[in-house]
Amino acid sequence: MTNQKERTVIVTGAAQGIGYAIAESFIQNGDFVAIFDLNMEAAENAAAKLGNAKGYSVNVADEEQVKKAINDLVSERGSLDVVVNNAGLQFISPVEDFPLEKWNQLLAVILTGTFLITKHALPVMKKQKKGRIINISSAHGRIPDAYKSAYVAAKFGVVGFTQTAALETAKEGITVNAIMPGPVRTKLIEKQLPELAEQDGTTVEEALNHHILGKQWMKRLLEPSEIGATVVFLASDGAAAITGESIGVTGGM
Ligand SMILES: NC(=O)c1ccc[n+]([C@@H]2O[C@H](COP(=O)([O-])OP(=O)(O)OC[C@H]3O[C@@H](n4cnc5c(N)ncnc54)[C@H](O)[C@@H]3O)[C@@H](O)[C@H]2O)c1
Repeated sequence: MTNQKERTVIVTGAAQGIGYAIAESFIQNGDFVAIFDLNMEAAENAAAKLGNAKGYSVNVADEEQVKKAINDLVSERGSLDVVVNNAGLQFISPVEDFPLEKWNQLLAVILTGTFLITKHALPVMKKQKKGRIINISSAHGRIPDAYKSAYVAAKFGVVGFTQTAALETAKEGITVNAIMPGPVRTKLIEKQLPELAEQDGTTVEEALNHHILGKQWMKRLLEPSEIGATVVFLASDGAAAITGESIGVTGGM
């Protein structure tokens, strides 16, 4: 919990999945959420369902779009208190077949997108002398998995970026942390299971157990709200001394 009433929060990729659940957790906490998503229609629908939220059409990998959306938001709201870099995507392929175009796309959205949003949020937060940035890495930010080279490289990269940004801003009332979710019940997981099964020549259930739940101690998919709760904690007054950390929310791994 925090003492400040109705903070302004950006959650990227919040039109669905984990981002939507993070947005819902902030709104339940009394905050306003700007949904920055590539899919404007889905972002507007999500905002309408969530209530105290607004959709913005933003490709996080495009600097002009990021700059404009943050400027518009800050003019409308007068502040920017919390940023959650959550937008992401997956592509499955062995390294030798991995298309360069897909490698570039994953790095652009996951790593460059996190950099660009942070780059343009920091001047506002520095002026305010406060701010919270939370980057959604992954358990694959510390443990690799076969066929996910671009995703794993980008998620490890997010951890390094988080530590550097935290170091640069530590004396300015700003904290920067990463969360490393384990397997969460979302479309991203549902979509990759048949592809992993095909690569391995196994059933979808075997792929779930081998790639997703095999290494996890609790043997269950996590609920998106369990990630939302940790993000809201990191943005709370009680977490003021936590910076540069990467916190696993994995169910044990
Ligand atoms: N699902 C999991 O089990 C899991 C585990 C660990 C980490 N994560 C991470 O959590 C985050 C959310 O995952 P999810 O499962 O909810 O995914 P999802 O595919 O359900 O949602 C991703 C959202 O990001 C948006 N997006 C994609 N590219 C974008 C871009 N260039 N600009 C703006 N928005 C863009 C999509 O439109 C979508 O709304 C991702 O960073 C993912 O890597 C997911």
